[in-house]
Amino acid sequence: MSHDAPDTLIASLNEDLAYEFQAVIFYTVGAQLMTGANRPELKAMFESEIADEQGHAAFLAQKVVALGGEPATVPKPVELGSSNRERIELALQAEKDTIERYTKRVEQADAAGEPGLRLRLEDLIVDETGHREELEMILKEFED
Ligand SMILES: [Fe+2]
Ligand SMILES: [Fe+2]
Repeated sequence: MSHDAPDTLIASLNEDLAYEFQAVIFYTVGAQLMTGANRPELKAMFESEIADEQGHAAFLAQKVVALGGEPATVPKPVELGSSNRERIELALQAEKDTIERYTKRVEQADAAGEPGLRLRLEDLIVDETGHREELEMILKEFED
């Protein structure tokens, strides 16, 4: 099978990696910034996402290396928001954007003749969709 545009795929996966580092920092620090009566639940919810995002970052770094690239080490800029609600809205938007990126990446994996990568990306989409749904449920009844 032909491998077209491996450099483009590596660059795209490195962009995804930088966003996963952003997510790790966002959820780690954002959890500590939660305030008020809902703090315990919101803090725990953010903290529960960190391991998934770290796992995604590790997978992407591994794949970049396997493709002959050099993994990104700098996160995308982190915006923490100034209230619990704003943090949850930022998280929700980030998860939606991430799902969109991985959906495009699945097409790139196919174009590059990487069916194994497609399957792993689909696993990532499953994780991020779970995150998105949790955040949507919290936002539904959220009282700041
Ligand atoms: Fe992730
Ligand atoms: Fe996520």
